[in-house]
Amino acid sequence: MKKKKIIIFGGSFDPIHKGHIKIALRAFNRIKADKLFFVPCNNHPQNKKMSASNNDRLEMIRLAIKGFPRFEICDFELKRNEISYTIDTINYFKEYYSDYELYLLIGYDQLINFDKWNRYQEILENSRIICYKRFLNKQNEINNITNDELNTNDNSVQELSLQKEDNKKINIKHISIGTIFRINISSSNIRVSPKKRHLSLDVLNYINENGLYALDRLEKVMSTYRIEHSIRVAEIAVDITKSLKYYPLLKQAYVSAIYHDYAKEFSEKYQTNFWTLFKIGYLFKYKKMYNKEKIENKHQNLWKIIHAWLGAYLIKKKFFINDYQVLNAIRNHTILETDDNILAKIIFCSDKLDVRKDGEISDRKKMYELCKKDINKGYLEILNRLKRND
Ligand SMILES: [Fe+2]
Ligand SMILES: [Fe+2]
Repeated sequence: MKKKKIIIFGGSFDPIHKGHIKIALRAFNRIKADKLFFVPCNNHPQNKKMSASNNDRLEMIRLAIKGFPRFEICDFELKRNEISYTIDTINYFKEYYSDYELYLLIGYDQLINFDKWNRYQEILENSRIICYKRFLNKQNEINNITNDELNTNDNSVQELSLQKEDNKKINIKHISIGTIFRINISSSNIRVSPKKRHLSLDVLNYINENGLYALDRLEKVMSTYRIEHSIRVAEIAVDITKSLKYYPLLKQAYVSAIYHDYAKEFSEKYQTNFWTLFKIGYLFKYKKMYNKEKIENKHQNLWKIIHAWLGAYLIKKKFFINDYQVLNAIRNHTILETDDNILAKIIFCSDKLDVRKDGEISDRKKMYELCKKDINKGYLEILNRLKRND
C-alpha cells in the first residue's frame, strides 16, 4: 500500500501571510499530500529575533489556515523552548507519524545553504525535500541590492542575492514546485508596512487588535526616548484599566497608548501642512469650518498638539487600524474634547502620568492612585494641575 504523505513547513511565521498559504497549497497539490503541518520555530538557529510572541504566532497561523482542513499546526518546536533544529522536528514526526512519508518544504535560499544545516544528511535520509522559488518581477531588484540590505535578516533580500548566482550547483536532491508568483513579499515588510492583499483579514485584525509589531513600526518614526515613553504610557494605561476593572478595554488601552505619539517626531512643517489639509477637507465635507479654531487661538505652539490628529490618521491609513475607540483616544490625548469617553480619559491621563525629561505633574503618585480608583476624578484633577501650569 502506498504510504500517506505529510509535508512539514517550518518557519517563523512572524506573521504568516498569503505567500505562505500559496506555497503550502502548491506543495500540497503537487505531491498529493494527506496533511501539511505549519511548524513555527522557537529560537532560530541564526538567532533571528522574533517580534510576536509564540502564542500570537500560533494564533495567527490558526486564523490563516481556517478553511483548509488538511492544514494543521505542530507546536513541537515552541514547546521544547530551546533552539530548533529541523532534524529534531523530523525525528519527532518520524516517531508520531511512523506510517507516513515525510516531506520538508523549504525555500530556494535555504536549499542553497542546506549542506550547512545541522545533521543535514540525516534529514535527507528521513525526508524528501520540496523546494519553492519566489517570483522576482524586476531584474533590477536583484542588481540593486545594497550591502546594508544584505546584512538584514530579510529572507526575501537574501534570496534575491542568491538568485543572482543562479548557476551555483545544488547537489541536494529535491522536488521543485517551481516559482510561486506574486509572493515577493516578506514578513519583515509586512510587520512595518502591511498590505491588505498580503494578509488574511483575520490575521490583519488580530495584529491590530493586539498591537502586534507596534514597536517595529515606532522604531521607523521615533527616537528611543519617545519609544520608551510610549512603552511606559502603555504600561500605565493597562495598569489603570485593570485597576478600574474595565477588562474589555484592556487591548484597546494598550494599542492606543503604544501608538499615541506615532506622529510626534514628524517635522513641524509636515504636521502643520497636515493640519491645513485636514481643515480644508473638513470644510468640503461638512460645509463648515472645523471647530478647532479656538484651539489655534489658544495654543501658540499649535504644531505640538497636532500630532494627535496626525497620528490617528496615519495609523488608520498605514496599518488599517480602524477601531473608532482607539483612534478617538489617540486623537484626544493632547486636548481631550470628548469628556464622556473612558478610554480617551485613560490615555490622556496615562500620558500625563509618565515622568518625562521636563519633569512630572505635581502629586504624580497621588494622581496615579486616584486614576486607578476613579478615572473621572483623576482626569479632572490632572486637568486642573495642567491648567495651573499653563
Ligand atoms: Fe503626545
Ligand atoms: Fe505622549
